[in-house]
Amino acid sequence: MILAPSLLAADFLHLADDIEMINRSEADWLHLDVMDGVFVPNISLGFPAIAQVAQITRKPMDAHLMIVDPQKFIPQFRDFGVSVFSVQYEVCPHLHRVVSQIHEAGMKAGVALNPHTPIELLTDILGDLDVVLVMSVNPGFGGQRFIPQAIEKVRRVKQMISDRNLPTLIELDGGVNLETGRQLLDAGADVLVAGNYIFKSNNPLETIRQMKQM
Ligand code: DX5
Ligand code: ZN
Repeated sequence: MILAPSLLAADFLHLADDIEMINRSEADWLHLDVMDGVFVPNISLGFPAIAQVAQITRKPMDAHLMIVDPQKFIPQFRDFGVSVFSVQYEVCPHLHRVVSQIHEAGMKAGVALNPHTPIELLTDILGDLDVVLVMSVNPGFGGQRFIPQAIEKVRRVKQMISDRNLPTLIELDGGVNLETGRQLLDAGADVLVAGNYIFKSNNPLETIRQMKQM
């Protein structure tokens, strides 16, 4: 499984220390939550911060855009060296075009679904996606309670992916810990994002090691 610590839960006064910790850890990706105060009721990382994070991280960056018009910023994220660029389904009426633009920029394309958005809406785009990002909380904040319906949703998207023999990865985001993570992996998840569970633990390096052994 791929583990992606979410920088949203890091200590922003000591961001470099936290990124170095992730560099030294067994984590696979670095998850970057980008919020605009419009699509979600919160604002997080902006370009000046991401540019500096990009300079010192040695993990592939997994950007989760919780913003309207995410396609506007594809060139910037490509220039930062981001590997995965995920947009929210709910803000993209022309999703096929956006996914094509992400691929043309040389990044992997992901689509994130809010808890109420049915996975079946991806039927006609699934073959073009590298990642399906299933939200197990309402996007906008770290540290929220896991919504258990996400487990059933993972089973359904896993079925769709394996029926068609696709290489698409299933990523889960929100309220992931050792217990919910285990259930999600059993249901078919490939990538787990975790923020608070890692960064607010006494020993984040050790927590990452335990999660990688799940
Ligand atoms: C929520 C973000 C998540 C968040 C997860 O809007 O997309 O990536 O950081 O945080 P935890 O793991 O604390 O729920
Ligand atoms: Zn996220």
